[in-house]
Amino acid sequence: MDETIRQKINQLKKEKDIVILAHYYVDGQVQEIADYVGDSYYLSKIATKVEQQNILFCGVRFMGETAKILNPDKRVVMADELADCPMAHMISVEKIEEMKQQVEDLAVVCYVNSTAEIKAVSDVCVTSSNALRVVEGLSEKNIFFVPDNNLGRYVAEKLPQKHFIFHDGFCHVHKSIEADKVLEAKKLHPDACVLTHPECTMDVLEISDFIGSTSEIIDYATASEQEKFIICTEMGVFFELMQKNPKKKFYSVGHRQFCPNMKKVTIEKLVAAMEDLSPEVILPQEIMDQARIPLQRMLELAK
Ligand code: 13P
Ligand code: SF4
Repeated sequence: MDETIRQKINQLKKEKDIVILAHYYVDGQVQEIADYVGDSYYLSKIATKVEQQNILFCGVRFMGETAKILNPDKRVVMADELADCPMAHMISVEKIEEMKQQVEDLAVVCYVNSTAEIKAVSDVCVTSSNALRVVEGLSEKNIFFVPDNNLGRYVAEKLPQKHFIFHDGFCHVHKSIEADKVLEAKKLHPDACVLTHPECTMDVLEISDFIGSTSEIIDYATASEQEKFIICTEMGVFFELMQKNPKKKFYSVGHRQFCPNMKKVTIEKLVAAMEDLSPEVILPQEIMDQARIPLQRMLELAK
């Protein structure tokens, strides 16, 4: 990154009391200048601990909303207002209310990749790294897992004592990672280990050596004695993987491992957002108060 821009960003951080949080899927340059980089779970925890008055979020909308809900007194600014996760809109409040009416002894488990309105009518939130632990800790027998079908099925396989009802939401980026492409990559690199995000489809999970969130994939590759890895998640993780493991080799499975929304965040937009402290995440008070309950329950159960 250009030294003048780096200095400008550091100066703005101090002058305007801003902390920058970034997800592993944003561009490497943005990750490099951020104060904290992580997966959804880490970012939601760190958002409750930062001291600065202003949080600049480099990620998609639901992540900024989560930070705001957990810190209603802080100003949360998105680096790009239009960076939004399509999966977050794949379930409706009506569908959840309908299910609550129909099924007894039910917990609505909401993947954080959802809107604040959806969280507000859910019992507990989960991220990809804590879903198993959180759902296991629930007393209800029936679980309505929304919106991600793939993560829901992955968790359900591990918890046969629960009865799961799935929704049909999905991540288009992970869905586009196809099993035959993974097998082709395995043929090309037979000694590579396959590391996969649980938003991938079941046939991909079945041929993987390790399944985990973005942070877990990075930690696994870093701790492993293996030298080669096939990575089944969004390509943004390659930045941290290579920073931490310059001697190891990481392979993708195709050109579609690209989240166009995460990549909307650029250094130019980040600087503009810091200068204006805008666009700010603004949510109705009632929604924030309701949505905070399942988020805090997640933080408790995942400890
Ligand atoms: P993580 O929970 O691994 O950060 O995943 C977030 C996400 O959006 C995956 O597509
Ligand atoms: Fe949403 Fe998928 Fe992008 Fe993650 S990678 S933000 S789930 S579209």
